[in-house]
Amino acid sequence: MALTLEVNGETHVLDVPPTRRLLNVLRDDLALTGAKLGCGEGACGACAVLLDGRPVTSCLIPVGAAEGRTVTTIEGLARNGRALEEAFVAEDALQCGFCTPGQIVSATALLVETPTPTREQIRTALAGNLCRCGAYPKIERAILRASGQVVV
Ligand code: FES
Ligand code: FES
Repeated sequence: MALTLEVNGETHVLDVPPTRRLLNVLRDDLALTGAKLGCGEGACGACAVLLDGRPVTSCLIPVGAAEGRTVTTIEGLARNGRALEEAFVAEDALQCGFCTPGQIVSATALLVETPTPTREQIRTALAGNLCRCGAYPKIERAILRASGQVVV
């Protein structure tokens, strides 16, 4: 049975089982490879995308649950606004970069709700995004920079 999915403002009609992971559909069927498969069990945040504007771990979402809702991936964010990406580069807030799309997706949702977050609010909002390289202090500074706050 065909399934209709709206991703980054585009509508896709897909012939996939509704139980297939949203992450796999994005990566394998739509060639949107920004969201990464890390743990595959909701613990690392590498696969984060926005579902109706809220960050979710797409490795845990069956694609059928995303039908009729809007999905935004890091590729969609890159098209519509680069402030966070530029801040991550400016602050050198990545090493291997594996976690970066998920970090930026979660930070985007944070800045929509809280345009000038405190360090504590940043840590809370990104608590589900793990970075094996330990770039946390620079990630925090990048989000402060993107929010227009002075970094000290
Ligand atoms: Fe989805 Fe780790 S791959 S949370
Ligand atoms: Fe390598 Fe975060 S930069 S996991």
